Amino acid sequence: MDKLFTPVKVGDTTLHNRIVMAPMTRSRATVGDTADALTAKYYQQRASAGLIITEGSQISVQGQGYLFTPGIYNDEQVKGWELSTKAVHDAGGKIYVQLWHVGRISHPSLQKDGQLPVSSVPVKAQNATCYARNENGEPGPVPVPTPRALSIAEIQDVVQDYVRAAKNAIRAGFDGVEIHAANGYLLEQFINGGLNVRTDQYGGINPENRLRFVLEVTDAISQSIGAEKTGIRLAPFGRLFDMHAFEGEEETWLLLADKLSKRSLAYVHLSDQKTLGEQAIPDGFIDTFRAAYSGTLIVAGGFDKSRAESYLQQGKTDLIGFGRPYIANPDLAERLANDWPLNEVNRATMYGGDETGYTDYPFWSDTPGNTE
Ligand SMILES: Cc1cc2nc3c(=O)[nH]c(=O)nc-3n(C[C@H](O)[C@H](O)[C@H](O)COP(=O)(O)O)c2cc1C
Repeated sequence: MDKLFTPVKVGDTTLHNRIVMAPMTRSRATVGDTADALTAKYYQQRASAGLIITEGSQISVQGQGYLFTPGIYNDEQVKGWELSTKAVHDAGGKIYVQLWHVGRISHPSLQKDGQLPVSSVPVKAQNATCYARNENGEPGPVPVPTPRALSIAEIQDVVQDYVRAAKNAIRAGFDGVEIHAANGYLLEQFINGGLNVRTDQYGGINPENRLRFVLEVTDAISQSIGAEKTGIRLAPFGRLFDMHAFEGEEETWLLLADKLSKRSLAYVHLSDQKTLGEQAIPDGFIDTFRAAYSGTLIVAGGFDKSRAESYLQQGKTDLIGFGRPYIANPDLAERLANDWPLNEVNRATMYGGDETGYTDYPFWSDTPGNTE
C-alpha cells in the first residue's frame, strides 16, 4: 500500500495524507500586499494536499523583498488571509502560513523611508536581485544593495515582528506557521558561518551564537501560539543567494537538529535546492539529520510519486513536499493516487499577473473523456 496516502499527525493536526504543498511565492498580491479572493481560490483548488504551506508572507515591511508578496503584519492582511484559511478548511484541507523575512535580499524602494535592507553583517549578496521598482517606477529585477547589520536591540524587534505575525496567523485561521529559515533569507544569513562573522553573541565561529536568533524566534513563536503549531524550514548546505560553504557546516546543522528536537515542534521541513539550480543536500545527510532530529520531518525538492514513496518506505522522512508540480496540478494528490499524468508548469506565469497560470490549470477531470 502507498504510504503517501496514509494519515499522519503533525503537531495538533491530523492530515489525511503525507503530501505537502511546498511554499511558493506567486506575487499576485497586487493590492496592499494582501492575499485576496483569487489567492483563496488557488489554495482551495489544492486543498486535497494533506497540508498546504502558503507562499512566504512577510512579517513586516522590512521583511519584504519582492513586490506583490502578501504580508501578515496588519489587520487588512489578516482579513485577506481569512479568505484562504476558510476556503481551504471548507474543502477539508489544512493550511500553515510561511513567515518570511528576506533580510538582505531587498531594496531601499521596498523599505520604510528608503532605508537599507538588513542582515547579520553588512555584506552584499553577489549576483542577487530582488523584485522592486526601477528608477522609472516600473517593477522588475533590481540588484540588491549592501545591507546594514541589525543591532542587538533590532534583532529583538524582529523577534517581536515574528510573534505578531504568528499571532496574526492564528487570528486569520491558519492551522499553524512555518518559520522560513531557508534559502538564503534573514535567518539563514545568521546561521551561515561563511557570512555571519559578527563578533557579538549572534555570530562568529561558535555555532551556538549563529543559531541564537533562529532559536529565539522559534521559542518566542512557540510560546505565543504553541510549539505544536510551529514548524520550521531549513536548507542544510543551501547555496541560494550567495550562501557559502563554511567550516563546521555539518556540525551546525546537526546542532540545530538536536536543539529543535527538544522543542516538540509540529515539524522540521528540509528544502533541497537541487531543482532550484543549486547543489543538492549531500548524499546521506538527510539520514544523518533524521537520526539527529527526533520529531516529524518533511523533505521537499525534486519529488515524483515513486521517489516520494521510496523515501517514505525507507523511513527517511514522514511527509513529502511538492513544489512546482503543485503550481500546475491543483489535484496533484488525486493524480498521484491514480497515476494520472501531470500538467507541465509554465515558467512564464510563475510570478505575478492574474489567474492565468495561477487558478486556470485544469483538473484531470476537466479534460473531456477523463472519468473516474
Ligand atoms: C515559483 C516558486 C516560488 C517559491 N517560493 C518559495 C517560498 O516562498 N518559500 C520557500 O521556502 N520556498 C519557495 N520555493 C521553493 C519550493 O518550496 C520548493 O522547495 C522547490 O520548488 C523544490 O521543490 P520542487 O522540486 O518540488 O519544485 C519556491 C519555488 C518556486 C518554483
